[in-house]
Amino acid sequence: MSNGPDQSMHLTPASVLDYRELARKKLPRQLFDYVDGGAYAENTMRANEEALHAIHLRQRVLRDVSNIDLGADVLGEHLSLPLILGPVGLLGMFARRGEVQAARAAEQEGARFCESTVSICSIEEVNAATNRPFWFQLYVMRDRGYAEALMRRAHDAGCSVLVLTVDLAVVGARYRDTRNGMTGPIPVGKKLVRAWDILSHPGWVWQVAMRGKPLTFGNLEAAVPGARSPTEFKGWVDSQFDPSVTWDDLAWVRKHWPGKLVLKGILDVQDAKCAADAGADGVIVSNHGGRQLDDVRSTASSLPPIVEAVGDRLEVLVDGGIRSGLDVVKMLALGAKACLLGRAWAYAVAGAGERGVAHMLHIIRDEMNVAMALTGNTRLDDLGPEVLDR
Ligand SMILES: Cc1cc2nc3c(=O)[nH]c(=O)nc-3n(C[C@H](O)[C@H](O)[C@H](O)COP(=O)(O)O)c2cc1C
Repeated sequence: MSNGPDQSMHLTPASVLDYRELARKKLPRQLFDYVDGGAYAENTMRANEEALHAIHLRQRVLRDVSNIDLGADVLGEHLSLPLILGPVGLLGMFARRGEVQAARAAEQEGARFCESTVSICSIEEVNAATNRPFWFQLYVMRDRGYAEALMRRAHDAGCSVLVLTVDLAVVGARYRDTRNGMTGPIPVGKKLVRAWDILSHPGWVWQVAMRGKPLTFGNLEAAVPGARSPTEFKGWVDSQFDPSVTWDDLAWVRKHWPGKLVLKGILDVQDAKCAADAGADGVIVSNHGGRQLDDVRSTASSLPPIVEAVGDRLEVLVDGGIRSGLDVVKMLALGAKACLLGRAWAYAVAGAGERGVAHMLHIIRDEMNVAMALTGNTRLDDLGPEVLDR
């Protein structure tokens, strides 16, 4: 179910950033800005990437690196690539039935797919299109009954890991979305600009707006019966973020979720310790890709003290700014068990659908192989601070 041959980029994409460029050409501006942008001045979004660029790998030579194994045991499952396609809301707006395409690509490449609560394709649609367990991401909603039903649905679909996102007590402002009319009211003049933006991307109109229907939030249809577009769900979704949630609510999640539980959005050592005390199986060191609180630290700089504090009690995963296999190797050397990709795979699915995501994962695998070989390592367990030149 790919988006068809690429007409807009004559060269084969060679990197994640090439897929970003392809996505920029294929998507209406408001959608590209939605995925590409961050909160407020976007300082943290940039810091995530800059922190990774500032870390140097230590080149080592004349070691036998003929057999490199990128496999890892993550939360009870063996992955041949230590990568998860992290939760990205509204993904099915970037490519026709985008979550299904991405989940299939992850399966082919030995990675995992994590379905966002606010996906276009439902848990059941992704399950029907795939053969391996995928992960499900949940927000603690005000409507606890609906959240319980979602956990039941995810469990019935064989989801192996519940990713509970905890850094969305309130929503950070994303200025690009406000300017483009993705959030808030838009004046008539702006509506015309938007209509022109959409019409000047006929490939997207045909593949997604026309053939990609229904463009609803598949997991939330029962909550807003009759809604026909993401906009019609907006009021309900906005009303569901619950700022009153505390650590005590984890007991409620545990009661309704029998599988592995991972908290996403941990950036502070004290919070990581609370997560371990609360019995979480893992944490994801994350600042939501710089889309929530701006001016917080990069994830690459937050990761080592968290690993030091709780790495022996639970599994520590990380995301934020990862755009290459070299970045993945750096994060693993800093102590992460596995990495989640965000924008990297969103760009790839927008650029070339399932084929694009599979190719992007290939690119990252190749880059990881080179980084492993030229730092003199053959197994991920060998990676540690000594791989970095600091
Ligand atoms: C367009 C977009 C939508 C996202 N939607 C969700 C979501 O629904 N749930 C969630 O937990 N995180 C969401 N995230 C955050 C990602 O899961 C991830 O933490 C972040 O993208 C990692 O940073 P990176 O994009 O620099 O790799 C979203 C990120 C983007 C870019």
